Order: sequence, then C-alpha cells, then structure tokens
Amino acid sequence: MTKRIRKAVFPVGGLGTRFLPATKAMPKEMLPVVDKPLIQYAVEEAAAAGIEDFIFVTGRAKQAIEDHFDVSFELEYMLKQRGADGRLADVRGVRPANSRVAYTRQGEALGLGHAVHCARALVGDEPFAVLLADDLFLSDKPCMQQLVEAYDRTGGNVVAVTEVPREQTDRYGILDVGEEDGDMVAVRGLVEKPAPEDAPSNLSIIGRYILQPEIFDFLAEGKAGAGGEIQLTDAMARMIGGKPFHGLRVQGRRFDCGDKLGFFEANLAFALQRDDMAEGVRRILNDYAGS
Ligand code: UTP
Repeated sequence: MTKRIRKAVFPVGGLGTRFLPATKAMPKEMLPVVDKPLIQYAVEEAAAAGIEDFIFVTGRAKQAIEDHFDVSFELEYMLKQRGADGRLADVRGVRPANSRVAYTRQGEALGLGHAVHCARALVGDEPFAVLLADDLFLSDKPCMQQLVEAYDRTGGNVVAVTEVPREQTDRYGILDVGEEDGDMVAVRGLVEKPAPEDAPSNLSIIGRYILQPEIFDFLAEGKAGAGGEIQLTDAMARMIGGKPFHGLRVQGRRFDCGDKLGFFEANLAFALQRDDMAEGVRRILNDYAGS
C-alpha cells in the first residue's frame, strides 16, 4: 500500500523576470489565463487529485496570492447586495472545500530546489506533490490525478514527462531513460538543462512531481547546480537507486506559461474551451489570419 498524497507544495517564489514589468509588484502565478490566475488552476488540479493541504512557498510580492485565497468579506457582501450570485459563487469557490492553506517564505530566490526545501517543516515525513503553476495543462483527466494514479501503482517518486524538441533540451530537466512500460518510464538518471549534444534523451520533466520526503535530506545540502541555482533535479537525481523512480508520459496539452508565447497560446486554448467565448475568439482569429 502506498501512502496517500495529502499535501501539495506550490513554489511561487521565483522572480518571473521574463514577465517584467508585469511581475514587478505581482507574482507571475497571479497572471490570469482568461479570468483565472495560474495559481488557481494549479490549486484546482491538486484538489481534484484528493489533496487537502496546500502549502505555498512565496517570495517577494506575495500579498496578492494570500489575498486571493483568503475570504473577502467586503467583496462577498457587495456581490450579495447586488444579487450577483454567479460572481459570488466564483469568489467563494476559489478556495477548495475542506482544505488547509499554509504559507512559508523563501527569503531569497535561490532556485526551485531551495523553494521546495523551505516547505520541509510543513510537509513532514510523508510523500507529497509539487505543482509549478506556470506549467498549465489542458487534459481530460487533470495532470496531477494522472500522476497520483501512476504513483498508486508504483509508489516511490513519479514525475510528469513530455517530449521536447532536441534543440531545446538546455531549457529543461532531462531524463536518462531506463525500461519503458506503456506510459511509464523508469528513470535511470536526470540532468538539468543539458546541451542538445549531451542530453541523454529528449524526454523532459514538466512541473508536476510526487516526491518522497528523503528529497529534503539532499536539498538540505544546498548545493548550487545549473545557473548557480539550487536545483530540484539534482536532488531528485540523487534519489535514483533508492525507492522506485518513474516518469509518466502525461496525456493532454501543456502550456509553458512562464514564457510569453506559451502564455498567449494558453489564453487562446482556454478561451476556445469556453462556451461564452469560443465563437468570438474564432471571429477574432479569422480577422487576424490574413495579416
Ligand atoms: P522559473 O525557472 O520559471 O524561474 O521557475 P522564475 O524566476 O519563476 O521566472 P523567470 O525565468 O525569471 O522568468 C520555475 C518555478 O519555480 C519557482 C517559480 O516560482 C516557478 O514556479 N521558483 C523558482 C521558486 O519558487 N523559487 C526560486 O528561487 C526559483
């Protein structure tokens, strides 16, 4: 029997420099795709996978995230007075039912591995999920749900993976692929941002992980890796050979919303899913198609 995944860590401490000046006073995870901030999509995805404890590792300009997941008495009162029931439900639905929310702070943006380590005391000694809100998924089954189901079969560590163009391996954590079984891939090694000629494959880790708590011992060493940052990939690589470690080729479409074009495409794709917008968006696309 595997231990149930009850807790999720949301590292939201990055500087988001690719989105400046939008991210000067606001975390990039608050950027909206259509009308919902990226972080809310991630929280809903975690809740759909049965997660109850939501741990945010924040950094500078954190206030907006805390406010977003707080009760807003004033706003709720005003919407009620105006009889705006639909909007009131949207506001009340932001925080998943039966959930606990905790915040901790990453004093300095020293890297994703460092951010995850900041959640150690809140996670404790149990396996946990990590979701990077800037990776957004459009899929029939939510991505974290796919990961939890895979974890229930194999236990250990499971990371979401997808193929990336060979020439882009230097942007991602890349797998050295062992045995493959359907959509599951045994992980033999992990390298952060290898040059295309050194990359062991073109299978990249994307921002969804289920990790065993032993990762914290490796993160605690605080060794800087690629780009001078404390990398989660390096600590994960050191866990290989212990408990099982698998990559899951996830179903669905992933948008890299940390990148301007990826973010733009996500807005388009999500708007096209909406009954109240799809027709209007198609019309706009047609108008621009010739220019
Ligand atoms: P990125 O590599 O996209 O970095 O982080 P970034 O700082 O957010 O953005 P750019 O590259 O400057 O535009 C990947 C994820 O790791 C988190 C980010 O918030 C994002 O979800 N992260 C990164 C932290 O929480 N802390 C860090 O020190 C670094």
